[in-house]
Formats: sequence, C-alpha cells, structure tokens
Amino acid sequence: MMNNTSLIINSSKELIGDIIIPGDKSITHRAIILGSLCSGKVIISNGLFSEDCLKTISCFKQMGVEIKTNDCSIEIIGKGLRSLIAPKEILDTGNSGTLARLLSGILSCQNFDSSINGDESLNSRPMKRIIDPLTSLGAIIKSKDYKLPISFKASNSLIPIAYKSPIPSAQIKSCLLLAALFIDGESVISEETKTRDHTERLLKYLGYPFEVNNKAIVIRGNGSLSARAIDIPSDISSAAFFIVAALITQGSDILLTNIGTNPLRTGIIDVLIAMGADIKLIKNRLIGDEPVSDIRIKYSRLNSINISGKIISRLIDELPILFIACAICDGTSTINDIKELRYKESDRILSMETGLKKLGIDVTSTENSISIIGGSINGGIIDSFGDHRVAMSFLIAGLVSKKPITVRNTENINTSFPTFIDILREQNIDIYKI
Ligand code: S3P
Repeated sequence: MMNNTSLIINSSKELIGDIIIPGDKSITHRAIILGSLCSGKVIISNGLFSEDCLKTISCFKQMGVEIKTNDCSIEIIGKGLRSLIAPKEILDTGNSGTLARLLSGILSCQNFDSSINGDESLNSRPMKRIIDPLTSLGAIIKSKDYKLPISFKASNSLIPIAYKSPIPSAQIKSCLLLAALFIDGESVISEETKTRDHTERLLKYLGYPFEVNNKAIVIRGNGSLSARAIDIPSDISSAAFFIVAALITQGSDILLTNIGTNPLRTGIIDVLIAMGADIKLIKNRLIGDEPVSDIRIKYSRLNSINISGKIISRLIDELPILFIACAICDGTSTINDIKELRYKESDRILSMETGLKKLGIDVTSTENSISIIGGSINGGIIDSFGDHRVAMSFLIAGLVSKKPITVRNTENINTSFPTFIDILREQNIDIYKI
C-alpha cells in the first residue's frame, strides 16, 4: 500500500503507566475464518479492527456469512463448514498475506469458482509456497508467475494432504489445515521448525478433532466446529513497539495488559531479556486456549546480540523493531537466518538497512542476515516502503534520535495497529502529520 501521509516525531521524555494494545491480528483473522465455518453464533471480543482484519470480514460476508460488528465485538452467525456460497465479485485481500494464503486453502476446496486479488505490495509477494501444495492435492488454481490475482476452480475430487513445508511458515501450515477441513480422509501436515500454532489452538477450542504427533498434525475432513465465544489476547507484535520504546527511553516504566504470550510468539521477549532488558511477565493466565500475561517494562541499557536458527520464527514480525534496539545498544549485533524477511510487506532487510543507514547507523547485510553496529541515531527522512512495521519501527527510533525523524507513507500503519499514533499522543509524545 503506497500513500503520502508523512509523520514527524521528536525525541521524547519517558513513557509511563498502562498502555492498552489492541487485539492480535493473527488470531483475529483465524477467529473470523473459523467462526464463519461454525454452526451457530460466535461472538469475538477484543478482535482487531484493522484494515487487514476488516478485509477478512468483508471476504466472508461476500461468501454469504452473516457478520455484524459494533465498537467492541464481532458477531458471526455461522451456518457450518459447507455453508459458503460463491462470491459475486473478486475477493479483495488488501495488504494481508495471512488472509490471502489462509483463504486460498478454503477456496481451493469449494464447489464454486472464485478469485482473490490484493494491493500492490501483496500482489508482488510469493504464492508458489501455497499454490504448489494445493495443486498437488488436486486444486485447480490459475495465476501469473505464482502471484496474485489468483483464481480457483470449483473442485470436488481432492486427495488428502501429505505435506512437509520446506519454509517455516504458519501461513502455509494454516492454509493447508483449512483445506484439510474440506477433504475426505486423513491429511498430515508437518513442519521442520515450529511456527505459531493459533490455528491449531482455535480448532481445538472449537472442538474440531485432530492429533499432533511430534511435528505432524493429523486431521480428517468434514468434521464440525462448535460455536463458542472467542476472546482475543492483545497482540505481542504490536506490543513489541512499546516494549522497545520503553526500553530505550530513559526513565520509562510501563505496563501492557492482556498480551498474548503464546511461546511460539515470545522470541522478542527472550531476546530482549538476553540483551539486558528489564521485562517482567506477570499474572500469567489462559484466554481460551491462548496464554496471556501482563508485561511490565522499565528503561534498560541494552547489549548487542547474535541470534539465528529456530528463534527467528518466534519473532519474525518483531525483527524490524529489534533492529532499532540493536541500532541503539552498545556493540555489533548479527541476526542470521532471516531470508523470509525479504518476502514480507516489503523486503524488510532492505527497508530497514536503507532507513538505518540514512540515520547514520552502520549496517551490512547478506541475502540471509544483517549486522548492525550500535551507535547514536541522527534525524532524517525515512521511507516506510509501504510497510506498517517499518513505519512504526522508525517512528519509535524518533523517540531517541538527535533530530526529528520524518517517516513517509505511514497510512499502512492502519493495516495492523490503528491506535498506534493515539497511544504515542496519550504519552505526550510530539508526533505530527505533515
Ligand atoms: C502469520 C505468519 C507469519 C507472519 C505474519 C502472520 C500468520 O508469516 O509473518 O505476519 O498469521 O500466520 P509466515 O507464515 O509467512 O512466516
């Protein structure tokens, strides 16, 4: 998504007090999708009303699902697994890779034709990773160069899935799990590196039977999902911006309540603690099948870090803001095994390297890694490359920069964190549209 709203931010005093982070994006998508396939009424509370999740609501409404929203909840009247009807128009998945990929799993297995499209950023992202496995189970999919727009033909002779993803990706895993719901017989979906398991947890919560044997999920199609209220934890990926903001701004002491702390998402907390951060998880509890905590963060002097391997998939979306923490701490940080970052809403290695260099930070990268030499951040004008997490990362860097930072193309922040700027203002931080 490209647009022209620039934001300028000035260095700030400490962040203090309680901060309310909105609902988790990954879980909200899944709650709307699985809620639409339940039989009965599903009320989703603390769901995220961001542009990405509103697209998910709109796609399922176009397939005949009754969905109502009010200020704080989403109400879905599901009519069961086989209730979707042919959309009259091409489904718009906007900027959302999660929606495009998860929806593709479902559309591949319907008895109607359909198509999906996205915005400029999404239409340039790789879809071969889902088209190949879906095609191997008999789905009829048309695309150009394995990119959106994609069309799906009605299909009724699909064979069970036996697939091990070569890429660590919860979107690929979830796409295939959702397809498996519509396929007769036993599908087996496995992953080498464990990725976020929100789809599995929600399937279990809604009473859909499956087994997990080591790293393989064994699931049979044509079961049923029981309608239940779904309460969504607040998003640790959004919280990460304020966790780092408090850590780098002298005197800060904040409390983030009700944050999802699924162990496959908490890599950022483990890494920041290893860097010397004062972060405490308190009131650990469960919401539905998801772990949740309140998180207290105090300003801390951070040390550099070297990370690689399995931890990466546990903090994949938090890498841009982690790079900002690395740019501010003492010493050289090296982060390896991050090639997947090149396929996000922008090439995040390139976007972050370009911006950090503009701010006077020494950065080198390879196809699969980045090295950042901590220093002090100057001011400057940064492009978000249409990427919400790049935009928010550089705005947080502005809290401690010597001169103001202007970030261009910031409307994309609404895809994941529509209250981001309001929260900064509530903390008396100078941030203006220009
Ligand atoms: C997501 C999975 C991750 C993540 C994305 C959300 C999900 O993508 O980066 O923001 O909700 O399943 P990959 O599966 O491509 O790693």
